[in-house]
Amino acid sequence: MPYFGNILQFRPSRMHLQLEDWAQRFSTPYRLRLIGRDMLVVADALTIMELLRARPWTFRRARPVQSVFREMGIAGVFSAEGETWERQRRLVMRAFDPARLKRYFPSLVTVTARLRRRWQRAAATGEVLDIQAELMRYTVDVTAGLAFGADINTIEGGEDVIQRHLERIFPMVNRRTTAPFAYWRHVKLPADRALERDLAAARAAVDAFIAQARARLAADPALRENPSNLIEALLAARDAPGSEFTDADVSGNVFTALLAGEDTTANTLAWLCYYLCEAPATQDALHAEAAGLLGTAAQVDSFEQLNALPYAEAATREAMRLRPVAPVLSFEALKPVRVGEFELAQGDIVTALMRLPGMDPQLLDAPQAFHPERWLGAEDARLASAKKVLMPFGGGPRFCPGRYLALAEIKMVATMLARNFRVAREPGEVGERYQLSMMPTGLRVRLEART
Ligand code: HEM
Repeated sequence: MPYFGNILQFRPSRMHLQLEDWAQRFSTPYRLRLIGRDMLVVADALTIMELLRARPWTFRRARPVQSVFREMGIAGVFSAEGETWERQRRLVMRAFDPARLKRYFPSLVTVTARLRRRWQRAAATGEVLDIQAELMRYTVDVTAGLAFGADINTIEGGEDVIQRHLERIFPMVNRRTTAPFAYWRHVKLPADRALERDLAAARAAVDAFIAQARARLAADPALRENPSNLIEALLAARDAPGSEFTDADVSGNVFTALLAGEDTTANTLAWLCYYLCEAPATQDALHAEAAGLLGTAAQVDSFEQLNALPYAEAATREAMRLRPVAPVLSFEALKPVRVGEFELAQGDIVTALMRLPGMDPQLLDAPQAFHPERWLGAEDARLASAKKVLMPFGGGPRFCPGRYLALAEIKMVATMLARNFRVAREPGEVGERYQLSMMPTGLRVRLEART
């Protein structure tokens, strides 16, 4: 269309499907036009890896990510660029190292046990569960525990001081970062006024958590050396002599962890659950692995056990291959640069389709099928190449810092589910909706307790 280009062909919630459909029809790379600007779409693994590695100096995230996050007061490492990103990344990586995760493991056990008890009740009454919503409560409780050191227990209906605001804030982040025009800077719709109220309330809740963490650090200075959660780690770094960090870095990165850690992990688990329903034999294989490792125990209860679950890992890899919850990543050129045969000017956008490299029949037999066993055979060159092209956590210097936490959560829940229950899907169509991350729609399940 003149002026609009291809933009009217997009619905934000199906954007990834539209881009993938064009990739099938026209092959990649291809170019489309969005309101006077060209966008290059790529799906080749090597090109994607190059783009991922060329940040933050040759490419950046698309510009609206930074401006929208900043004006909402939730700026952290995800939306930062250049030197600010380098500084924030150092801060966040300290808070996410695997040793810290180990300290946090007991909370993971507690939250998983709560979910198990809730599911036992649901199995006993034959309740139909919206499994994505169930898993969101789980990741909210885990992430808030990690971020704030607070036990908010939404699984068992605990008082929710922040989540109900975040639930409305996060879709608005998506709406604004993908909007063709920043209308809210000129006119405020009711949704924009509601957003302001939610942001103010969420900020007040985060400030209260920061004040509590400060009080804990004052009462127990040893915590500065050995913080027990993200907010304490951020505050300890903020207060260190000659610190390069600010109060805004602390609250921005707490928001960022909540934003980046909840939906992504819950949606990945929901997709895994979908495939377990579609292929009941995989539930039995997962059950056998869990029963073999855990004996009579109902769930994983030591950190070391998480490293002894190859089938759970293979099933997770397979779910993330077929349903990567970040199916598109966008890059904006910071200087003139060549991508394959295309010369890009400063400001040009490249969008990478992250699912397609893992659907290549040259690398994987029957790539449409959910087949965890494919990852468990002896590793030959083909299998190694197939592993390399899967990038569900991104890559290069900006790869996902929450990856180990996410995998720990997924293995905890998948093992607990298969150890204790059979899961079956209610009839109906399951679709994909993109809203900051890609989630299943219409996925309802019933659980049956295993004897
Ligand atoms: C299965 C779950 C998850 C998936 C699939 C996922 C995926 C991703 C992806 C694709 C990126 C972009 C990486 C890039 O640009 O190269 C990312 C970035 C990020 N993720 Fe995750 N993520 C998950 C869980 C988490 C968790 C649990 C947290 C923290 C609690 C987290 C925190 C972050 C942060 C802070 C960034 C920004 C990093 C940066 O820009 O330097 N993620 N994640």
